[in-house]
Formats: sequence, C-alpha cells, structure tokens
Amino acid sequence: MKVVALVGSTRKNSTTRKATEIVVKELEEQGITVEIIHFAEVKLPIYEEELAKINPPKVVQDFIEQIANADGFILASPEYHGSVSGVLKNALDFIGAREMSGKIAAGSKLGAANTVNTLHQICRNLHAWALPQSPTIPAAYEAFQKDGSLKDDKLQERLVTLGKKLAEELQRR
Ligand SMILES: Cc1cc2nc3c(=O)[nH]c(=O)nc-3n(C[C@H](O)[C@H](O)[C@H](O)COP(=O)(O)O)c2cc1C
Repeated sequence: MKVVALVGSTRKNSTTRKATEIVVKELEEQGITVEIIHFAEVKLPIYEEELAKINPPKVVQDFIEQIANADGFILASPEYHGSVSGVLKNALDFIGAREMSGKIAAGSKLGAANTVNTLHQICRNLHAWALPQSPTIPAAYEAFQKDGSLKDDKLQERLVTLGKKLAEELQRR
C-alpha cells in the first residue's frame, strides 16, 4: 500500500510540509509507505501537452509514474490568493483520471475553506474520492512548535485523524 503526498509549496521551511509530515507519521505507523513530493525539491516544468504526453522529460515521467503507482494521496496546499498554489495545480495538470480514478485522496491546506473546496473539486474531476476530513491551519506561520507538532492540540488531532482515516480507507479496500 503506497501513498504519495504532494506538498504544494516551494519554500524549504514550509509549514505545508510540516503539516503533511504529521499526517505521514500516522500513515507510517499504520504500516503504509509514503513518498513525499515537495515542490521545493521536485521542479516540474509548466504544463504543456508536448511535455505531458508527447515528449515528457524524466522529471515529468517519474512524477506521472509515482502517481499512477500510488493507492492514495495527500494533497497539501498553502492558500494563495484564496485558492490552491499554482505549483500544486500545475503538477495536477500533468495528471489525468487514468492515474487517479477510484483512488482515495486526503486534502489539507493552510488558510480558508476555498482552498479545500478547490482541492475537492479537482479530485472530483480526476475521479478520485476525497475524504471529508480536510483540516485547515489558520496563521500557519505561528501554529507549529519546534518539534514540528501543532501548538493547538485539537488541530494536531485533526491531522492525525486524517492520517488514520486515509489508512483505514486504504486497508478496507
Ligand atoms: C502569492 C501568495 C498568495 C497568498 N495568498 C494568501 C491568501 O489568499 N490567504 C492567506 O491566508 N494567505 C495567503 N498567503 C500566505 C500563505 O498562505 C502562507 O504564507 C503559507 O503559510 C505559506 O505556506 P508554506 O509555509 O507552506 O510555504 C499567500 C502567500 C503568497 C506567496
């Protein structure tokens, strides 16, 4: 069982990454392998049909293959102008229902409800099932402790629960 986590920030010290790692830790404790794709490290080109379908560079081939081979996903995004970050949306533009259809996605984002709604909408368009649990982290710049956990215990628990629910759903299938 394998999950791919997409971290939609290009910052190395990303709070989106920190939030993702809380969910990842829970999944790993449930025996699920997780690969993190953080767009501070993996640099995809801007989507073009030529690069996606006709003559894809290795970075694009590897990315599409990782998604196709995953059983589930974590989609984590900072809020940019009330929506999903461009780098995450661009990455998802390389993906089609062929790679994601029928799979489970868990969404998480930093900011307000529009970003989560957009992630759910993208999942629906890719024929993937988005879990209803979609934790949001307000004022993410001051939300984390030095050890990477959240200062707010209830919010920490919501991210752990997201990991549990994704693991449960994958194991149930
Ligand atoms: C281009 C841009 C647009 C942003 N738009 C919003 C926004 O609409 N609402 C908001 O709450 N924060 C907004 N922010 C702040 C980011 O959501 C915030 O810095 C977030 O913590 C960054 O995530 P990261 O630490 O994973 O990089 C924006 C930041 C950038 C760079």
